[in-house]
Order: sequence, then structure tokens, then C-alpha cells
Amino acid sequence: MIVVAIDGPSGVGKSTVGRALAASLGVPYLDTGAMYRAVGLLARRKGLPLPLTGADEVGELAERTEILVTGSGGDVKTFLDGEDVSAEIREPEISRYASAVAAIPRVRRRLAARQREMALAGGGVLEGRDIGTRVVPEATAKFFLTARPEVRARRRYEELVRKGTPQELASVRAEMEARDAADSSRADSPLSCDDTYVVVDTSDLDAERVVERLLQAVLGSRTG
Ligand code: DC
Repeated sequence: MIVVAIDGPSGVGKSTVGRALAASLGVPYLDTGAMYRAVGLLARRKGLPLPLTGADEVGELAERTEILVTGSGGDVKTFLDGEDVSAEIREPEISRYASAVAAIPRVRRRLAARQREMALAGGGVLEGRDIGTRVVPEATAKFFLTARPEVRARRRYEELVRKGTPQELASVRAEMEARDAADSSRADSPLSCDDTYVVVDTSDLDAERVVERLLQAVLGSRTG
């Protein structure tokens, strides 16, 4: 069974690369960030403010709501108790909520357990912040993707333009850096990398090259 962990901050290309790698390996792809986004959406719908209050309430909500992330390739969908929330969870405000709920240990426990179950059921490429450190430390291969901040901000900016919801580049960058700082400094399972990871700087590589590199490393680690 193949389990690949792809961790790293936002805007490094984890989703594009993760989907393509999963397709090449013929295993499921799991965007774990979508699950935190779904819980973030629950918190916003409850009318909770940011900075977030009501950690217990959010933890309980996460435990009793069915969160499903399905599909691969271009057709990845997220459901909350059967409701398709795939578009809504991509709103910039939900990014902030997602990062806030991701700091709540009860939320992390619940989501990480589900992610681990899914990974061990049929293998997969899992993308997130703590996949190789907490969710599946025994993964076949672990990759930590990085890119220069200006490159990451531009990618995110272009994605927003493509989606028809443009924002100023400077504010995209400021928001991204604030979220990455929060994700890297929280007490429970912060974004981090150790020497069991292969670090890949994607700043000057297109997605195909990154996928090629990862694919070689995965296949190498299986035979070697
Ligand atoms: O990858 P993303 O931007 O969709 O993730 C949304 C937020 O969820 C991100 O700010 C950090 C959090 N997250 C996490 O804490 N652990 C994961 N495995 C995946 C995402």
C-alpha cells in the first residue's frame, strides 16, 4: 500500500501536485485542508466571531457533523452532512476560519483520526500541514513543498483572478503570511518538517516537473 504525505504552507502547489501524483499512482487523493475548511464554515454559520471564541462548541459541531471529501483529479467535492459546500469553503473568509478552527485540539483529533482511517483503508496521497508528522508518520514517502513568499502570493492571486474574485496582490500576501504564521505557531500539530521529509522548492518549477520528481522519489522508496 502506498501512502504519500505532502505538507507545506499555502500556495506551494500542494493540491495541483497532489492530485496529479495520486492519478499517476492510481491511489485516492485527500485534501485534508478541505475538512478544516468545512469545520470553519460550520463555525461561521454558527455566527461565531474572529478571532474565534467557542472552541468547545466548534469541537462538538465537528464531532457530530459528517464531513466528506470525495473524488480526485479535477472533481474533488466536500460535503457537510450531505450538502455540497465545495465552492463555499474556498471563500477567503473561510480560509481564516479554517486556520482558527485548526488550532482547536478537539477538532484536530477528530479530523486526523478520520484522515488516518482513510489513508490506511486504501492508501492515498494526503495533502495538509501535519500529514507526515501526525496523521501518517509511517507514510511511504513524505514531501515538504516550499516556495518563495512572493511566488506563493502570486499563485494565490492568479487563482483568485481566474475564479473571478480578484484581490489586491499585497493583501493576498499579507493574509497568506498571517495564516502561515498562525498554522506554524499553534501548539497542537503545527506546520513543521523534520529529516524524514524530502523538501522540494517549487518556486522555479512547473507542476509537471514537481510531480515527476515526487513520482520518482515514491517509486524509488518502494523498490529501494
Ligand atoms: O490547505 P488549506 O489552505 O485548504 O487549509 C486550510 C487551513 O486548514 C490551513 O490554514 C491550515 C489548516 N490545516 C491544518 O491545520 N492541517 C491540515 N492537515 C490541513 C489544513
